[in-house]
Amino acid sequence: MRIFLDTANIQQIKDAVKLGVISGVTTNPSLVSKEDGAYRDLIVKICGLVPGPVSAEVLGETAADMVKEARDIITWAPNIAVKIPATAAGLEATSILSKDGVKVNFTLCFSLNQALLAALAGAAYVSPFVGRLDDAGHDGMALVKEIVEVYDHYKLGTQVIAASIRHTRHCVVAAQVGAHIATIPYAVLTQMLKHPLTDVGVVRFREDFKATLKS
Ligand code: G3P
Repeated sequence: MRIFLDTANIQQIKDAVKLGVISGVTTNPSLVSKEDGAYRDLIVKICGLVPGPVSAEVLGETAADMVKEARDIITWAPNIAVKIPATAAGLEATSILSKDGVKVNFTLCFSLNQALLAALAGAAYVSPFVGRLDDAGHDGMALVKEIVEVYDHYKLGTQVIAASIRHTRHCVVAAQVGAHIATIPYAVLTQMLKHPLTDVGVVRFREDFKATLKS
């Protein structure tokens, strides 16, 4: 499973990139609205920090508007994926853009049917929103598992991005059910590495070694 960072914060992306495990970034209009500067400048900056796809979302409501916006967004940098919402207009735009080789991340996905349609439209990625499903009393990771199984069964090439990740348990289950990618907030990334026995072990190794120097 690959890991993307789910943020538009430059400092967080820089810090995460140093760890050498991030291969892409996903943004959305809410994440972008928390940062300073123009949308395009921010996305271009992020694209320069990571090798893999950086998802930037369209805001148009009609298929024509989404296609127009997407065609502009992909000129900003070579490693951009365009996030398009799972609406009828979004599906139409995804079909048009995918045929032209644009990498579409079909987002705000909350059902297997939406994911199936995304794959049939040729989307490069589909983003089931796990945390928001959990919030609504459903099992978000069960959806990720279903999508992975159905895509495998029909040998569909769309990659599943487990999104709206809230905690480290989500990362564990995303890996277990075969999500191709998990896009995670920076705080969750740092927590993935934490284990109290590692901290205790590091201190004990240091103290034991220091003790041998004294004797
Ligand atoms: O990747 C999707 C993500 O940005 C949404 O997360 O926490 O707002 O549900 P959240």
